[in-house]
Amino acid sequence: MTKKVLVTGAAGFIGSQLLEHLRLLGHQVAGCDVLSLEGTGPSPADPLLTRLRKARLAEFSTRSGIPYFQIDIGAEDAFSQVLSQWQPDTVVHLAAQAGVRHSMQAPLDFVTPNLVGFARVLDACHRHQTPRLLYASSSSVYGLRSQVPFMEADRTDQPQSFYAATKQANEAMAYAYHAQYGMGSIGMRFFTVYGPWGRTDMAPFMFAQSMRRHQPIKLFGEGKLLRDFTYVADIVEAIGKLVSPVDKLTAPDIVNMGHQRPVEVNSFVQLLAKHLKVEPIIEYAPMQAADVALTCASEERLLRMIGDWRETTLDQGLGHFVQWLESWDPLDS
Ligand SMILES: NC(=O)c1ccc[n+]([C@@H]2O[C@H](COP(=O)([O-])OP(=O)(O)OC[C@H]3O[C@@H](n4cnc5c(N)ncnc54)[C@H](O)[C@@H]3O)[C@@H](O)[C@H]2O)c1
Repeated sequence: MTKKVLVTGAAGFIGSQLLEHLRLLGHQVAGCDVLSLEGTGPSPADPLLTRLRKARLAEFSTRSGIPYFQIDIGAEDAFSQVLSQWQPDTVVHLAAQAGVRHSMQAPLDFVTPNLVGFARVLDACHRHQTPRLLYASSSSVYGLRSQVPFMEADRTDQPQSFYAATKQANEAMAYAYHAQYGMGSIGMRFFTVYGPWGRTDMAPFMFAQSMRRHQPIKLFGEGKLLRDFTYVADIVEAIGKLVSPVDKLTAPDIVNMGHQRPVEVNSFVQLLAKHLKVEPIIEYAPMQAADVALTCASEERLLRMIGDWRETTLDQGLGHFVQWLESWDPLDS
């Protein structure tokens, strides 16, 4: 059945590709983001990131004529007004300040988008009686753990970064709205998403750019950190399946989105280098505060919710990523 969906974070890595996926499934979709359609807005320090966000908007929203609202989710009434105008039956809330490392340098950057913004989205969905709210949480809420796989019921009260703390707070806020008002929602704990159109502050992009220029890459924790890398199209497909049901959500659900296949960063780099056809120059560095040694999702609950789930292997996914990166950012341009 056709749904009417609003996606926040439409210029983002996951949001942009989700819009396209939902549109192709036949849903009526609209997006919002703080960026203007021309790509102006609060400019991140990295000019490549501005270029990337602009390009994602052009590729996945403007080109297909998807309705787009430029708003700051932290601003009073901005999101509520979009809900009044578009009247979606499902909101997928992905807009946020992301990035564990960034939160070490500038934790206060996270307060307005992740805490105030989230509260406004939650409250507006409650007041408009939006039947389905799905929102992005993160594997980082698990903190330091050695017991695998990570289960949704595991404790999450020891975040190792301020970013993780904001995501954990989001889950608590959603729970409180259920306790107070009976509102349901699904918090999606994404596990290290990678792939085409990926973020410039994440390892695949940074490593690939350095390797292409024959510059050294720094691997923290001797490259022995383990990450449950999840291909972006797999994530987008799973969200699509959570969007589709028509019933109103009534519980404060949380679900992992990862394949339970952690890979050592050292192996990840070797695979990436194979696709780039370069020999990586590696500098090892100790583990940083805020880093966690391991992430590994139990995917049991997700499979119960959506049935089967596609799995792109890391080898295939990195192949697609490198192909995209080389065409989007040719080194000689
Ligand atoms: N990519 C991952 O591996 C990963 C892992 C765990 C969780 N997440 C979460 O998933 C969500 C999407 O991640 P992503 O990788 O696509 O991030 P992204 O940074 O590419 O996208 C986030 C988008 O939100 C927008 N935004 C930021 N502040 C805003 C504001 N105040 N008002 C409106 N828009 C605002 C940004 O402009 C950006 O386009 C985020 O909530 C992130 O924390 C991502």
